[in-house]
Amino acid sequence: MNALRIGIAGLGNVGAGVVKILSQNAELVAKRAGRPIVVTAVSARDRSRDRGVSLDGIAWVDDAAELATRDDVDVVVELIGGSDGPALTLARRTLKAGKPLVTANKAMLAHHGLELAEAAETAGLPLKYEAAVAGGIPVIKGLAEGAAANRIARVYGLMNGTCNYILSRMEAEGLGFAEVLADAQALGFAEADPSFDIDGIDTAHKLSILAALAFGARIDFAGVACHGIRNVAAADIAQAAALGFRIKLVGLAEAEDGQLFQRVHPALVPIDHPIATTMGSLNAVVVEGDFVGRLFFQGRGAGEGPTASAVVADLVDIARGDVRPPFVMPVADLAALPRAPAADRRGRYYLRLSVADRAGVLAELTAALRDCGVSIESLVQRGTSGSDAMVVMVTHEAREADVLESLARMAASPAVAGQPVMMHILDF
Ligand SMILES: NC(=O)c1ccc[n+]([C@@H]2O[C@H](COP(=O)([O-])OP(=O)(O)OC[C@H]3O[C@@H](n4cnc5c(N)ncnc54)[C@H](OP(=O)(O)O)[C@@H]3O)[C@@H](O)[C@H]2O)c1
Repeated sequence: MNALRIGIAGLGNVGAGVVKILSQNAELVAKRAGRPIVVTAVSARDRSRDRGVSLDGIAWVDDAAELATRDDVDVVVELIGGSDGPALTLARRTLKAGKPLVTANKAMLAHHGLELAEAAETAGLPLKYEAAVAGGIPVIKGLAEGAAANRIARVYGLMNGTCNYILSRMEAEGLGFAEVLADAQALGFAEADPSFDIDGIDTAHKLSILAALAFGARIDFAGVACHGIRNVAAADIAQAAALGFRIKLVGLAEAEDGQLFQRVHPALVPIDHPIATTMGSLNAVVVEGDFVGRLFFQGRGAGEGPTASAVVADLVDIARGDVRPPFVMPVADLAALPRAPAADRRGRYYLRLSVADRAGVLAELTAALRDCGVSIESLVQRGTSGSDAMVVMVTHEAREADVLESLARMAASPAVAGQPVMMHILDF
């Protein structure tokens, strides 16, 4: 059978990784794909840069968009990145030119996924993106194929290796956020501009894609409430550990009563929960189906090898002739689910406050909680420096709006210093 000819735009970590796999594992991949998969053309910005892979015999294209219309390219792999700009131009042109598209670009999919999926469907073309969510972990396939029989109620997990690495090191070494971030940047585990990762935006991109697949819903990236890890303090990590929890940046999506809830936030995860045992730069995703129960996916969510592995898996599917709607069902059938309000959600909460170390303060705090209908499961007060004390509470299950109201009342007290901390406890 004829070889499947690939054009790759972007030869950074992932692009070079794809070239490497397709060269090192060429025979194996050809057997599994039913035909050879060969790279015929590539594009990046700097032609002179050594990519650590041989580009002999491969055409170099300065304008990535040209890959879409080259006669020697059957499939375009977009590995440039960015929600718009050259990546989006190339993606649109590729589908318009009648060619399948593979991408690892979660930002582009979160913003333009429905438009691109519609274009792919109309043209009867594959648009595949396994690498866009949780890197090497086959969670897109897991949801789209393995869990296809199930009504999915919830999907959640740790989808950003940088955040998980930072939180893991803060816990292991008792260090503050800024110190670990600076070190992670020096070691290449965090970007020079880490905001997409640490502010939860990258997780939100991935979550919005997973939610669409899991619930048959239209992507609603703007509907993801997003809180990152900048404000997670070493004190919270230590207190959480003392209470039997680990703090993780959790992306959570639920569909209930025809509404969609999506949030990214640092949460306290019970120490024996599978995602609490996911340390360092690993990712984990949990899918809850009505017949299959809890599925747990864990592995490398980033890096050259794992991400390129997912890209090549998509290419193998395309080589075999697999064409399905990118979000499993046609875009026209995806529901525009209204956003579920957070106010009525129920759960347990972790609260930490810095208070004046004097008589009557605790009574004031507990009164604020009582007046809002929030009861306390445990409360610890520890003397800190000077005249302040740290109060850590875990609430019983309560309504989120009530907890927030009680927190506002406590924050307004002259006995409370600074902003109280509130975090969700993951109880499922
Ligand atoms: N890295 C990961 O672990 C990972 C994991 C999952 C998903 N992803 C996604 O995979 C994609 C690629 O990530 P990456 O880490 O490989 O990025 P990267 O290392 O920054 O590489 C980006 C590549 O795109 C090239 N490029 C930039 N602008 C271009 C243009 N206008 N035309 C042609 N090429 C252009 C760059 O060229 P030069 O090399 O010449 O500068 C570079 O080779 C992104 O969407 C990212 O979100 C990455």
